[in-house]
Amino acid sequence: MRMYDLIRKKRDGGELSKPEIEFIVNGYTNGSLPDYQMSAFTMAVFFRGMTARETADLTRAMANSGDTVDLSAIKGIKVDKHSTGGVGDTTTLVLAPLVASIGVPVAKMSGHGLGHTGGTIDKLQSIPGFSVELSERQFVQNVNQIGLALTGQTGDVAPADKKLYALRDVTATVDSIPLIASSVMSKKLAAGADAIVLDVKTGEGAFMKTLDESFVLAKAMVEIGTELGRQTIAVVSDMNQPLGLAVGNALEVKEAIDTLQGHGPADLTELCLELGAHMTVLARKASDPETAKQRLRDQICSGAAVAKLKQFIAAQGGDASVVDRPEMLPQAAKTVVFKSETDGFISYINAETIGTCAMLLGAGREQKDSAIDLAVGIVLQKKIGDQVATGDPLAVLHLNDDARLPGVISLLRESFEISPVPVPKPPLIYGVVTREGIERFY
Ligand code: URA
Ligand code: CA
Repeated sequence: MRMYDLIRKKRDGGELSKPEIEFIVNGYTNGSLPDYQMSAFTMAVFFRGMTARETADLTRAMANSGDTVDLSAIKGIKVDKHSTGGVGDTTTLVLAPLVASIGVPVAKMSGHGLGHTGGTIDKLQSIPGFSVELSERQFVQNVNQIGLALTGQTGDVAPADKKLYALRDVTATVDSIPLIASSVMSKKLAAGADAIVLDVKTGEGAFMKTLDESFVLAKAMVEIGTELGRQTIAVVSDMNQPLGLAVGNALEVKEAIDTLQGHGPADLTELCLELGAHMTVLARKASDPETAKQRLRDQICSGAAVAKLKQFIAAQGGDASVVDRPEMLPQAAKTVVFKSETDGFISYINAETIGTCAMLLGAGREQKDSAIDLAVGIVLQKKIGDQVATGDPLAVLHLNDDARLPGVISLLRESFEISPVPVPKPPLIYGVVTREGIERFY
């Protein structure tokens, strides 16, 4: 087999066979195929696309390119959740204890985040004593005993995807639906999930800016999961403004605690109930999403959800009293209130630039090993549709380094738009994609 012929075949719109796709993925992973040939290939895929079968074969080959996680020692149906990115996405911190509290096993291995804030693993490290380095034995034991464990990634998961994603990033081939779908799903597959719930973000702050594209991506991922024997459901949700109010590590832990106690932001709560309901149904702990959602709501009201969070923190060496005393979380040296300079209604909050502000304050990593400041970040005080008067707080900045303030303030000014006339609140959930089809609400 020659790479030249495979590039030409895809360039001319042909369909590659499974052995051909495996040849490409294996060759690229082991270094026998050079970047320039792989670049030409990804550009051909960008223009020609891939069939559902080709995309599934690409996903499987990438999932098998490195270490795979074996969760078979854990009882029950392991359902993983994945979000296609966004800003201040606190859902994992809420969902893990929430669904675990009704018996859905959560066994999650996460990497460190590269982005506006750290990943879930970084956020949890703001809890005093909390360990994100469990041995495999401890990990399995915790899930079997309390239904929930979260640990840092060990081993080399989907190295083909890592290498390919980096190449796509510099060759203008990231935004290809088969390439995004296979990239996301290869990592989920390698992580050992039996079933997968996807939160596909749509809007300004997301990969997919239009609703139509977002549904196409959601459908592509559901088809891959189905083809590879993992039941998969995708929810398409809004990213035209940050989800919830907090963007920052310790700040999001606090927000997750609030949400599990029943007084979190409405949008974060609603999305967690929706995603959690699908996880519950896939784990066969409820027969339909509405029943599941009601049970999850009950877990929040009764205190069972937050009790599970405490149990989880204690089981990983953390101090669970942080839940009742969130002031034990890392605190920034000072807070600065960013105020509205006009009267009106919030019509736009740029999630992307709000995320960049949090990163500039030190909440996220620009490079793989940069240190992050767990205490800093932004807490929004208003969301789209809210009325504001001049001088009203729009956001509170938590910061440790004054030198960063002027840059952040000028970017924040660009992040909000205020309209003189009332603005409706945008929808939160646009639809659900299952293997039976697409249900669109908008
Ligand atoms: N997230 C991924 O993991 N891969 C992509 O290609 C895009 C988003
Ligand atoms: Ca948030």
